Amino acid sequence: MSDSLVLVERRGDGERRVAWLTLNRPKQLNALNDALMDELGAALRAMDADEGVGCIVVTGSEKAFAAGADISAMAKYEFMDVYKRDFITRNWETMRSVRKPVIAAVAGFALGGGCELAMMCDFIIAADSARFGQPEIKIGIIPGAGGTQRLPRAVGKSKTMDMVLTGRMMDAAEAERAGLVSRIVPADRLQAEALAAAEAICALSGPSVMMAKECVNRSFEAGLSDGLMYERRLFHSLFATQDQKEGMDAFLAKRKPSFRNA
Ligand code: HXC
Repeated sequence: MSDSLVLVERRGDGERRVAWLTLNRPKQLNALNDALMDELGAALRAMDADEGVGCIVVTGSEKAFAAGADISAMAKYEFMDVYKRDFITRNWETMRSVRKPVIAAVAGFALGGGCELAMMCDFIIAADSARFGQPEIKIGIIPGAGGTQRLPRAVGKSKTMDMVLTGRMMDAAEAERAGLVSRIVPADRLQAEALAAAEAICALSGPSVMMAKECVNRSFEAGLSDGLMYERRLFHSLFATQDQKEGMDAFLAKRKPSFRNA
């Protein structure tokens, strides 16, 4: 096994390929330390900038997507350590600026910062073995990478309070019912299903995919009127692309579109 904390591969055989990022600290259940998050941030930036990549998948091992931020590292931190070097913001938040779609393919534990990392992705495909939780309260802290903000947006206040205040885990079925994950697949199909979803996205027009992501994300930041206006203007702007002409012409001619990402 490589020493890298994040393995970077390209998968799929379309013109634009899938960047496949595997968190690689399996013995520690992919506990997320600064070195790993620095590597993940660098890989995300590189794949986002690569014209040959159309979609990114972030995944872990069979046993754990990630069991949280690294408690053995955090145990020694003092307030001034985390404040001065802006713990979390500096590297974890790189995910927020990625413009290409990012799918989290989750098997096993996604706890604490691991659940938060999965929620930072655009959607979550869960293996039936997946377990989600925000157990920080059990070690004297609270979620710190967006859990108290993104979880209620996904599953509502009551379930979030239950998770955050008791630290209990949800299994994949509960997570799907609650709207945290988009679909559940058998654990041995997780990679294939995530790759198929990512390849389907790669085959679409890159600019429209990027704008669709921007619009959905806008709904989390803006009020309805501003969000609708944002969507409307981006929708209008797509009529300036070659891919809109091609997509619609191909539909009418009953042929497969050939997108140029322009
Ligand atoms: C450091 C961790 C870890 C973590 C597991 N390990 N989670 N190390 N940080 N978050 C290590 C264990 O110490 C152990 O190391 C090895 O991984 C295997 O774990 P076990 O506990 O032996 O496995 P198991 O009995 O199967 O239990 C799995 C588990 C448990 C239920 C997931 O490991 C667990 O409760 N982990 C902590 C979960 C957690 O509290 N996460 C939130 C962290 S705080 P050794 O050396 O003994 O083999 C957080 C803050 C986020 O995420 C806010 C900012 C980012």
